[in-house]
Amino acid sequence: MLASSQPRVILVTGANKGIGFEIVKKLIKESPPNNNVILLGCRDLKRGQDALIQLCSPPNVHCLQLDVSSRESIFHATNEIKSKYGGQLDVLINNAAIGELELAVDSATEMFSINYYGIKILNEHLFPLIRENGRVINVASACGPIVLYEASESLQNQYTSSTLTLQQLDDLVEDFISSIGTHSIEQLGYNPKSLYLIYSVTKAAVISLTQIEARQWSGAKHVLILSVCPGFCTTDINKNAPGSRHPEFGADSILYVVNTPRNELKNGCFYRDGQLLPQIGRINREN
Ligand SMILES: NC(=O)c1ccc[n+]([C@@H]2O[C@H](COP(=O)([O-])OP(=O)(O)OC[C@H]3O[C@@H](n4cnc5c(N)ncnc54)[C@H](OP(=O)(O)O)[C@@H]3O)[C@@H](O)[C@H]2O)c1
Repeated sequence: MLASSQPRVILVTGANKGIGFEIVKKLIKESPPNNNVILLGCRDLKRGQDALIQLCSPPNVHCLQLDVSSRESIFHATNEIKSKYGGQLDVLINNAAIGELELAVDSATEMFSINYYGIKILNEHLFPLIRENGRVINVASACGPIVLYEASESLQNQYTSSTLTLQQLDDLVEDFISSIGTHSIEQLGYNPKSLYLIYSVTKAAVISLTQIEARQWSGAKHVLILSVCPGFCTTDINKNAPGSRHPEFGADSILYVVNTPRNELKNGCFYRDGQLLPQIGRINREN
């Protein structure tokens, strides 16, 4: 469990509502006030402060203004962690994301700038601050494996290649975005009928990104880098979809990979509710 003798610094992005908010709520319950320092990431400081008030403003929880789609905001947040919180992080939970917009190049560019590049660039900035034995958790979705299941074998092989580089993954992402403008999604090997196509490809890319980061970084400081699906939860991202579960269960799914002893987890892999999930598969989306 996280509660340990040494104080930990934990950042949750997009934590002013939904699953991120529930993660912070649970972290507060898990740790005595002086144990963990919890940074509640929010792109809008007012929304973050309102969330903090809802949590009764515990002394160990602080708002951190962070728009993950803005390099400037990432730069400022990194400096704030250095100047105010000791410049070290134990756990980074990349939770912020947006949901499906229309099938258009502008929408796809916006969605990838938050859901994929937001994680990639933030990780590049914050990895140097992650302490020995720290964890980086990238929140993905079961939509990722499903969209790859419905894609061509060639795309499946590329996304899951054990030699995939960051540049190659960026190229896959950029080719996908361009193909929307040129109406060549299908030629590229994606299934245009896949549900929430753009969102799902952002999440497939996050799962691949996690594998690359695990290969590149884990040796350095014994850092564990994992992707996780919170399951189908009632939040704004899916317009509070009927039949979905309370976001506190999504928080549990994410906190499982934060709290489970590292020898019980496979670095770089994808989890939901404590179960290892495949990178490609016809997974039940609504679990
Ligand atoms: N809910 C589900 O069924 C489900 C299923 C699978 C995966 N997920 C994943 O779970 C994570 C949490 O989603 P959720 O369901 O809790 O959605 P949510 O309620 O819509 O919360 C999303 C959070 O991300 C923040 N955000 C959006 N763009 C941002 C940006 N540019 N910079 C920083 N923060 C930003 C939002 O801030 P604002 O309030 O300012 O917009 C909000 O705090 C996401 O990664 C999502 O893809 C959710």
